[in-house]
Amino acid sequence: MDAYVVFGNPIGHSKSPLIHRLFAEQTGQHLDYRTALAPLDDFPAFARAFFRAGRGANVTVPFKEQAFALADSLTERARRAGAVNTLARRDDGTLLGDNTDGAGLVRDLTVNCGLELRGKRILLLGAGGAVRGVLEPLLAEQPEVVVIANRTVAKAEQLVHEFADLGPVSASGFDWLEEAVDVIINATSASLSGELPPIAPSLIARDHTFCYDMMYAKAPTAFCHWAGEHGAVRAVDGLGMLVEQAAEAFLLWRGVRPDSAPVLAEMRRQLAMS
Ligand code: ATR
Repeated sequence: MDAYVVFGNPIGHSKSPLIHRLFAEQTGQHLDYRTALAPLDDFPAFARAFFRAGRGANVTVPFKEQAFALADSLTERARRAGAVNTLARRDDGTLLGDNTDGAGLVRDLTVNCGLELRGKRILLLGAGGAVRGVLEPLLAEQPEVVVIANRTVAKAEQLVHEFADLGPVSASGFDWLEEAVDVIINATSASLSGELPPIAPSLIARDHTFCYDMMYAKAPTAFCHWAGEHGAVRAVDGLGMLVEQAAEAFLLWRGVRPDSAPVLAEMRRQLAMS
């Protein structure tokens, strides 16, 4: 059976094996997908050893940049992201590196949430790897503007410099912003510790602004809670992005796009029970 893994460290709590098992059952594809705890000090050798027989891998923290370096060729979105979350071994033995995070986010927003991004004013909070990973697919939706706001403004400015050729993108500090936007996406790691980026509630137009947190948890995240309190039309967490980035990887490996809706519903059900 074709072998797939998700490389990470730690990796024990990864939901990817369950998601891909559900995709495989649904599409009738025969594959084996497991977690692989890669060593922090020798990811390349570990990954190469797997790919002597393995067909594909997802890559998570902290190996996405090393996977980028390992790949023999890259998709444009992975090249732009500077990071790889999906590796596929091709018939000639070479490794293709892709990054499906941004496509997963865009699909969750546009298909699952039914949100049109074209012509919208989008505010992205953060300027780390998570933001770099989604800028190319977001700009491809032709928003009016993507504003990248970050605590360290120089990092937002660097991203603007790198992505300005793809569409209208600008940098900001958190406290420079007042006027309401259409969409706010939280991609700071502040959420991991239950903190909020210090942004003004006036950025939310009551019953209009759509808020999205790339993080997810059993209970509403601090950002989703804040968004709801200030009248956002919806506040959605990142569980759908997780499922959709996996669906994009499955499509790359197997040539079949799984129906993500029942899988997302099952993941939501399991999260609520956990
Ligand atoms: P990731 O891969 O999750 O993006 P990262 O590259 O370490 O992780 O980036 C973390 C992001 O969260 C950065 O934008 C960081 O802001 P700085 O660039 O100023 O460090 C942001 N961040 C982390 N903790 C934060 C906090 N408490 N408040 C606001 N922003 C925070």
